[in-house]
Amino acid sequence: MEELETIRARALEAVAAAASLEALEAARVAALGKKGSISGLMGRLGAMGPEERKAAGALLNAVKDEVAAAIAAAKAGLEAKALDERLARERVDVTLPVRPARQGRIHPIAQVMDEITAIFAQMGFAVAEGPDIEDDFHNFTALNIPAEHPARQMHDTFYFGERADGGRHLLRTHTSPVQIRTMLSQQPPIRIIAPGRTYRCDSDMTHTPMFHQVEGLVIDEHTHMGHLKGCLTEFVRTFFEVDEVPVRFRPSFFPFTEPSAEVDIGCSREGGELKIGPGKGWLEILGCGMVHPNVLRACGIDPDRYQGFAFGMGVERVAMLKYGIPDLRTFFESDLRWLEHYGFLPFDLPTVTGGLTR
Ligand code: DAH
Repeated sequence: MEELETIRARALEAVAAAASLEALEAARVAALGKKGSISGLMGRLGAMGPEERKAAGALLNAVKDEVAAAIAAAKAGLEAKALDERLARERVDVTLPVRPARQGRIHPIAQVMDEITAIFAQMGFAVAEGPDIEDDFHNFTALNIPAEHPARQMHDTFYFGERADGGRHLLRTHTSPVQIRTMLSQQPPIRIIAPGRTYRCDSDMTHTPMFHQVEGLVIDEHTHMGHLKGCLTEFVRTFFEVDEVPVRFRPSFFPFTEPSAEVDIGCSREGGELKIGPGKGWLEILGCGMVHPNVLRACGIDPDRYQGFAFGMGVERVAMLKYGIPDLRTFFESDLRWLEHYGFLPFDLPTVTGGLTR
């Protein structure tokens, strides 16, 4: 058994020299594996006499345990080293933003409502608001819309279920009911705009069930059609940022105004490109008129003393025209790529003096 010391020394040397888990495993197999050097000596015990076997077996077991312990220690050391290396290699910087490429954008609808508000605010208009859920009186009756008017028919209006008193609530079909609420709660002089959501049971290429309008109302003792024309012409030129854009007032009909007009702006379509400004074409952008005496009366305002004008425009429509957005429905698709393209930078609030669009 004099070889035992040599075998022990070699095995411990191989374990100490192993620089990787694979090398260590090879050293283990060479010493303790089935055909390993120590196992080989074990096999020889059977040929010995009882006394000799006892002494040699004890020695052999001690060496075997020593080598096994050395292997376990070396393994723990190598595993800790491998883990340290992996942690260093795969380090995550938790302070990095999750989506560094994405930036918030202001939706063109919000931007255009801010632009319109900025222009009328500079002319001395206040912003008024009303509820999206309205009743018949504010949405129709007080606006001089008789019961048989087509706007009242089911296919246009979203109605709620009947109430105990027989009345029904509805989603406002235009922002005009805010005129009524304002005149019922304030004394003239009145000068307000009312931006907000409106709803109609209509959905195709050019209609969405929810859309946006801005309403305007001016009431005092001396307002006439000249003021209406001046105010809206000034608005159009400031909004579209084109000084020489032609503005046309075309006779029309609305139940709540008399006389009524629709406002068209000039455009050209040269080379297939739509351009706001002088040209052969016209685009309708809003409805307006002098507030009907019946509307004033419904709000307790004396039409012999007070008069004024009103207007209403579709926000999506003027947004599409100003920013060249070809499809109405894309406004409501929440497509981040679309928003990145057509959206506006936050904090660049539109002002008339500082610039509406930057
Ligand atoms: N309420 C009308 C609509 O939704 C728009 C409108 C036209 C509003 C003329 C007005 C106005 O105040 O005077 O189609």
